[in-house]
Amino acid sequence: MSQATTMLPQRPRAFRRLSSDDATQEALSIRSPTVVVPPKHLMAPSDAHEIAAAMEFARHELEEFSSPMSSPETPPVTNVTDKYAFAFDIDGVLIRGGRPIPEAIEAMKVLNGKNAYGIKVPYIFVTNGGGKTEQERCIQLSKQLEIEVSPGQFICGHTPMREMASKYQTVLVVGGEGEKCRQVAEGYGFKDVVTPGDIIKDNPDTTPFRKLTADEMSNSRVRNFAEVKIEAIFVFADSRDWAGDQQIILDLLMSKGGYLGSRSETFNEGPPVFFSHNDVIWSASHDLTRLGMGALRLSLEAMYKAVTGMDLNTTAFGKPQMGTFQFATRLLKQWRRDTHGIDAPPETVYFVGDTPESDIRGTNDFNKESENTWYSILVRTGVFQEGTKPKFAPKATVDNALDAVLHGMELETKKAFKETLSMTSAKLAGTAIDEPSNESSPMISPKATEPADPMK
Ligand code: G3P
Ligand code: MG
Repeated sequence: MSQATTMLPQRPRAFRRLSSDDATQEALSIRSPTVVVPPKHLMAPSDAHEIAAAMEFARHELEEFSSPMSSPETPPVTNVTDKYAFAFDIDGVLIRGGRPIPEAIEAMKVLNGKNAYGIKVPYIFVTNGGGKTEQERCIQLSKQLEIEVSPGQFICGHTPMREMASKYQTVLVVGGEGEKCRQVAEGYGFKDVVTPGDIIKDNPDTTPFRKLTADEMSNSRVRNFAEVKIEAIFVFADSRDWAGDQQIILDLLMSKGGYLGSRSETFNEGPPVFFSHNDVIWSASHDLTRLGMGALRLSLEAMYKAVTGMDLNTTAFGKPQMGTFQFATRLLKQWRRDTHGIDAPPETVYFVGDTPESDIRGTNDFNKESENTWYSILVRTGVFQEGTKPKFAPKATVDNALDAVLHGMELETKKAFKETLSMTSAKLAGTAIDEPSNESSPMISPKATEPADPMK
């Protein structure tokens, strides 16, 4: 039973193939379409090349050109389906504590053509993780999953924050390793980026128990913060110093207009705080879940309340926020427009996640408002633990990313079969073809628990 494929339009487009061994942040920050390639595939594009390259172009068009590019004319044949796509969470689904989950490598092979139909299925990565540029995460994942990956396939928790770069002049960026978050923010176009290190360098008494390392001292920039108006605070990645970072954020929240060293009488004249996500827990290399950025957010709100008696309102990006899913839809829509000349996102997006509160909740909520179907699949390789009832019910629960891919492809096979059957019987009956609905009952993999409720 062949699954739906269409003629793929070809565009004269230049792009770079950089080996994941030598690809550097600098090389990747050059704004030209790039695919990061495991060295073994450098000479000859691998099966994963086509989707990585096409998604990279779609991303560049989204970012470079305000109006979506029209689709081309002359289509060559290819075996990339556009009927459906996969969106993968990373921590707890593909990667655990920096190491690939074995089934994830197999899952990528199946999506890149190693399946009974010989078709390729488009996929993107939607992670709340961050603290590195999409380019750098792309190098990392290419090495971990041994496949060609493009920055275009990547959506991090802070990716949509790029759209705020023109709104604020001087911003404080918190979290992550060393200077990385400042690089991410400057890469997004933020003009004047301050780090906690800069503030401690200016006034070491800011954090009584935290002294800058020699590296931090040399990387931190000299500023007189009594004269610097900090207009917004962005927590881009998990904090490496909860005490120091919260002290500095609180100083700004209680300041007069974002000037450090000043104190507001009303404690509500400080800059807004934006978190790149709200995961209270996440799955890292430890067997048990670890505290995440959402826990820092709760702690900060509790401390502000304790010190000022007032409630603190902060904003979170990332999953389950709709903005992240809307961004993913724009990317998939541009990809389908480019590659199949169809001005719509793939009919179904299978979102594979390990955290009910962010991955499943976001997918289910977005499914209610989206123009296409978003189908949530929960895996057992991360936060979600067997025997617990997920707070937000997935459409299906499976063991790992490979099972999730096989589950989605099985559904699509059944859908294609149903469509062909009804079209054939309609033809035989010589009657008009009526579009078969794409309603499908929630599927349960052999070892799956009963899913909550049917499709949308
Ligand atoms: O810090 C990131 C973590 O909270 C979750 O990442 O990939 O599971 O969305 P991910
Ligand atoms: Mg996860």
